[in-house]
This record gives sequence, structure tokens and C-alpha cells, in this order.
Amino acid sequence: MSLDDPVIAVDKPETATEAVLEPKTQPAPAAAGWPPRFCCFVTGTDTEIGKTLVSSAMLHALVQAGVRACGMKPVAAGTELRDGEWRNDDCDQLAAAGNVHLPQSITTPFLLKEPAAPHIAAALEGITISPVPILAAYVEINAASDAVVVEGVGGFRVPLNDDFDTADLAEQLALPVVLVVGLRLGCISHALLTVEAIEARGLTLAGWVANETQADMAFADENIAALSQRIDAPLLGRVPRLAEPTAQEAATHIDFTQLPNWPAENKL
Ligand SMILES: Nc1ncnc2c1ncn2[C@@H]1O[C@H](COP(=O)(O)OP(=O)(O)OP(=O)(O)O)[C@@H](O)[C@H]1O
Ligand SMILES: [Mg+2]
Repeated sequence: MSLDDPVIAVDKPETATEAVLEPKTQPAPAAAGWPPRFCCFVTGTDTEIGKTLVSSAMLHALVQAGVRACGMKPVAAGTELRDGEWRNDDCDQLAAAGNVHLPQSITTPFLLKEPAAPHIAAALEGITISPVPILAAYVEINAASDAVVVEGVGGFRVPLNDDFDTADLAEQLALPVVLVVGLRLGCISHALLTVEAIEARGLTLAGWVANETQADMAFADENIAALSQRIDAPLLGRVPRLAEPTAQEAATHIDFTQLPNWPAENKL
């Protein structure tokens, strides 16, 4: 599959399918009376702290609100061969939570086999990750969707090549950022450093989510209070350690309506 492939499938609303198949130039929302689009970049305090879970919850909530929602994981490292295709769990979870189904080559322009730091995994395959295919794919996803959730890789400053990292990617995409804080010892400093890095790039921190990746973290309330005092963005929710960490279940613990341009239910 290439970026030019016109293979686009939308679960619902079914009536939107035709429009999706013919990507259109979007009119200026205010001028045309269109609702503003919801798009964001989901980053985290570390790897394995719940970015995919929160991104999937966001996609689930967007679908519930009646919009065409698509997840994007521009760079994914770690694949397994399933039914003759190289698959990545994050990509599959995002695709399952959204309702606009594009080829994986568009939602993940850089799918790397080795579960390692992306620039290392890319080097193993003789690939250099570059922003251009990612930005082109993002444009294509935008044309097919009303809302896009982009999941970063690992933490906020993960190198993608020698002079380009995930923070640069968020900057080039010019997206508001949602920060997932994995509640564990050390998360306060990780979170505040990430907030500093987001703000240093002139990006908007639209909100943050406290995610209990481990059960019974000591002083979880106090950690959240310390972060709330210091982060100048809304706490969207606190996701407890879930027995079944599904998008649907996680979404019940997060109030996404506090995010800018969050769609009013069934308005699109
Ligand atoms: N609140 C939670 N309750 C139970 N399990 C959780 C919770 N949050 C995350 N997990 C589990 O922890 C693991 C890591 O979560 P997730 O994949 O969302 O992290 P990530 O930040 O996206 O990781 P990566 O950096 O690899 O993309 C997953 O198995 C997920 O199901
Ligand atoms: Mg993930």
C-alpha cells in the first residue's frame, strides 16, 4: 500500500462514506459554519504508561459523539507477523477504537520490526525516519476524518533521526498536546519536564490524564495533587488500574469535553 492508495473504509456514519472517498478541501470552519475539527497529539511521561489506552479511549468517545475518528501512530517499533501481515499492537488498538479505516501504511508510515528506540530500529532496516511521509499521511487522514488522534512514541523527546524527535513532530503537526502521566514513583518530575518541553516549543498542553498503571501506588492522591498545582492545564481524568483495560472502560474515567474543539454529541 502507498499513500496514494484510495482504500478508505468508514464504519459510521454510513452516509459519510461517499464524502470520505472523495477527499475534499475543507472550507474554513467558521466561514462555512462547520464545527471546528478535533485533533491532538498524545504524549506520555514514558513508554508503557497508557498512551495507547488513553488515545483509544479518546477515539472511542469521538465515535460515540458521532464523528469520523481516526487514530495515527506515525512511528511504531515492534511488529509480529499475523495472517501474513506485519502488525503492531498499538496500531491495531487505535484502528479498533476509531471508525475510519485507512491502510496501515497511512496511519503508520514508519512501521519498524524491532521493538527498540525508533532511530535504532530504523537503522537496523536501513531506513531513515523523516517528517515528510508523516505529514503527507496526516493530511490524507485529515481529509478522510473529522477528528484525528496522533499517538507519539515513548516519551516526548524520543529521537526519530539524528536531528528530529517526537517533540519536533508534534511541533510540525502543530497539534495541541494531551499528556498521559503514568502514576509511579518519579512521575512528578517526568511530567513537569515534559510540560516544560511542550511549552518551550510553543505548543498548547490541552490537558493531562493520570493513569494508574500499577495498582495501589503509594501516595497516588498526593502525586496527583502536586501535579494539579503545577500543571496549567485541566486534569481530564484519573484512570484506575483496570482489570480489563479497554478503550470503552478507560473512557468512562476521562472527561474529554474539556478539550478544545471536542465535538458536541451528534453535531457533525
Ligand atoms: N489503567 C490501566 N489499567 C490496567 N492496565 C493498563 C492501564 N493503563 C495501561 N495499561 C496496560 O499497560 C500496558 C501499556 O499501556 P499502553 O500500551 O497504553 O502504553 P503506551 O504508553 O502506549 O506504551 P508505548 O510507549 O509502548 O506506546 C498495556 O498492556 C495496557 O493495557
Ligand atoms: Mg502505545
